Amino acid sequence: MLLVSFLASSAANFYQDLDLTWGDGRSKILNNGDLLTLSLDKSSSSGFQSKSEYLFRKIDMQLKLVPGNSAGTVTAYYLSSQGPTHDEIDFEFLGNLSGDPYILHTNVFGQGKGNREQQFYLWFDPTADFHTYSILWNPQRIM
Ligand SMILES: *[C@@H]1O[C@H](CO)[C@@H](O)[C@H](O)[C@H]1NC(C)=O
Repeated sequence: MLLVSFLASSAANFYQDLDLTWGDGRSKILNNGDLLTLSLDKSSSSGFQSKSEYLFRKIDMQLKLVPGNSAGTVTAYYLSSQGPTHDEIDFEFLGNLSGDPYILHTNVFGQGKGNREQQFYLWFDPTADFHTYSILWNPQRIM
């Protein structure tokens, strides 16, 4: 079983802000709404979605990835609108064998068009502790 954890900042509460959208018990909110855990087994995975929609925003996601052999798994964190000409900003963490680095894969879609993939070899161990991964999206730029 694989596990990924998300930590809420002081202002956030996962009970109020999120719906567990799939996972049949594999997604859990713990510590009075401060911690969200997702797990994966042989049959399926788990996930959540924000209750609110946002136009422009800075989102800080603190997450800790599964250690050890995570080959073949993808932990994704993305913002998306609905429909065929949707906009989307992706963070995808591609799992790997024990001791080999996770690759962070990013993409941006505008009006349904992507092809802006970038890959980053992380210079730290994303499984050792929580790290903050941020997306800033305003009318001028996406960072
Ligand atoms: C796993 O790590 C190896 C060694 O660094 C690298 O060549 C490979 O691209 C990685 N695979 C993924 C899916 O991240």
